[in-house]
Amino acid sequence: MRYNVRCYPNIHELSRAAAAFICELAKGFVSKQGIVTIVLSGGNTPRTLYEDLARSPFDSVVPWRQIHLFWGDERCVPADSPDSNFFMAYQTLISKVPVPSRNIHRIPGEVESPEEAAEAYEQALRDFFRQLRNNGTHPLSSGESDLLPFFDLMLLGVGKDGHTASLFPGEDVLDEKERWVAAVSSQNAKAPLDRITLTLPVINRASLVVFLVSGPGKKQTVRAILDDQEKASQLYPAARVKPRGPVIWFIDSEFV
Ligand code: 6PG
Repeated sequence: MRYNVRCYPNIHELSRAAAAFICELAKGFVSKQGIVTIVLSGGNTPRTLYEDLARSPFDSVVPWRQIHLFWGDERCVPADSPDSNFFMAYQTLISKVPVPSRNIHRIPGEVESPEEAAEAYEQALRDFFRQLRNNGTHPLSSGESDLLPFFDLMLLGVGKDGHTASLFPGEDVLDEKERWVAAVSSQNAKAPLDRITLTLPVINRASLVVFLVSGPGKKQTVRAILDDQEKASQLYPAARVKPRGPVIWFIDSEFV
């Protein structure tokens, strides 16, 4: 796969460029199909992007009322925990823009059993995309036999160990072929260890994937993935992201 790689001198310029890209993409999808489905990433890197999207000019240009937000992964914590990926997006973006609450599809990390939380999110996704197919507005709804969800835009980050979402190296979930959402508990994860994550079949069904990568200690990992994705896919889960559509990397120029 040929990656589209965009380098920036710092997180502020990276985030602003990503915000402009996402804004134009969202406008395009909404004009074509009436809505846009975006999967948000967690961690720290996207924080600046979300803050930018909540500010001028994006706060008044992005078609917020037609956006549906989902998450690529969530920690098994309450929705108002500082460790929650939802809470980070809520504080930086969702609380500041007019996305209808019915369009916020968060992963229920607070559910006692991670397995039940994963099953509940998978059911919510099945219901959402079945409805999208039935109303036939989404171009992919016609003639698509498989029932996998088809997200328009998937935002992902990369950890130092090459994990993405909560798909950590060496975990069985990397070979999951059926489930859309899985509960994982990995010693590789920064605490909290228990997570809920989209699986690779779902991630690779996305129309477009945007990696947002910054932060110390990632240069070797990012370079290995960009230089030889096939070889890197043995080690790094992020290299196994091979969607139907383009993969665009917004990275810190120190990685090149
Ligand atoms: C999470 C994220 C995770 C993140 C990477 C990179 O729940 O932590 O989904 O996959 O994207 O750990 O995080 P940073 O970009 O903050 O380094």
